[in-house]
Amino acid sequence: MRVAGMEGRTVVLTGGSSGIGLATAGALAALGARVVITARRADRGREALAHIRQQSGTDLAEVVVFDLADLDSVRAGASEILDRCPQIDVLVNNAGVVLSERVETAQGFEATFATNHLGPFLLTALLRERLLSAPAARVVTVSSAAHRTARRGLDFDDLQARRRYRPMAVYGASKLANILFTVELARQLAGTTVTANCLHPGLVATGYGRGTTGLLGLGVKLGRPFMLSPDQGARTSIFLASSPDVDGVTGRYFVRCRVEIPSRSAKDGEAARRLWEMSEAMVGSGS
Ligand SMILES: NC(=O)c1ccc[n+]([C@@H]2O[C@H](COP(=O)([O-])OP(=O)(O)OC[C@H]3O[C@@H](n4cnc5c(N)ncnc54)[C@H](OP(=O)(O)O)[C@@H]3O)[C@@H](O)[C@H]2O)c1
Repeated sequence: MRVAGMEGRTVVLTGGSSGIGLATAGALAALGARVVITARRADRGREALAHIRQQSGTDLAEVVVFDLADLDSVRAGASEILDRCPQIDVLVNNAGVVLSERVETAQGFEATFATNHLGPFLLTALLRERLLSAPAARVVTVSSAAHRTARRGLDFDDLQARRRYRPMAVYGASKLANILFTVELARQLAGTTVTANCLHPGLVATGYGRGTTGLLGLGVKLGRPFMLSPDQGARTSIFLASSPDVDGVTGRYFVRCRVEIPSRSAKDGEAARRLWEMSEAMVGSGS
């Protein structure tokens, strides 16, 4: 994996308090980037900063606290990021959850969809102008091979999983949404200085699935010994955020630092546009 120094560049990374995000943030700070992580809890954010500083041997990390599942909180967080960062070179949409049971957010959206897709959608929209004003910016979104479970594509009549809630199906659909988001963002940004790519990090032993119950919880527990470490799982995110090998590359899905073809549903440009329009309506005005 070829990476380059990141001195003078600012990275905003969601979900920097744990797992793949924490490892990615530490590595990018070690490459010289100023890394602004987001965390939903101040105490976990502070612990992460101490870890990143120790891992990178730098003082280049800071934290902004907000909840991606709450659109008002995302607006407040984005505003703080814009106040603090006159330039944003990389946005890593990393945070994500899988939830055993259906929960609704403050705005009445299903929480997995809201955390994994709607929150990052709104955050990216709010940071878009700042990304466009950087010399060459990148949006990197952490999807998953689990997008393949949504074989028939997104159910646009039930994006909030009101009819039926199956945790892995809802998670898989949210990860398909990550790829469709990337496809449409790259289309819209074609000809600009901003690229958009997404990735599957591998199966990684992190906080992922923590707190899940039943078969899902059991599967997560039994699988852990066979999984990658967070440092290994962070490699493709680090590559996409920093490597000169992907200068100008956009709209792609990566696995192990290589372009991979995602599922058929993930290449559906019409679905990507439809999801974009519906997401815009859901996040409402002010995005
Ligand atoms: N682990 C895997 O095998 C695997 C495989 C494929 C894809 N992924 C993807 O990799 C990404 C990182 O996951 P991970 O494995 O590193 O899991 P993790 O250790 O649980 O980290 C998830 C991060 O997201 C944050 N987060 C969760 N809900 C949030 C919210 N509402 N607002 C703000 N931040 C929130 C968490 O914050 P807290 O610290 O407060 O919980 C944490 O920092 C996710 O997008 C996941 O879907 C993981």
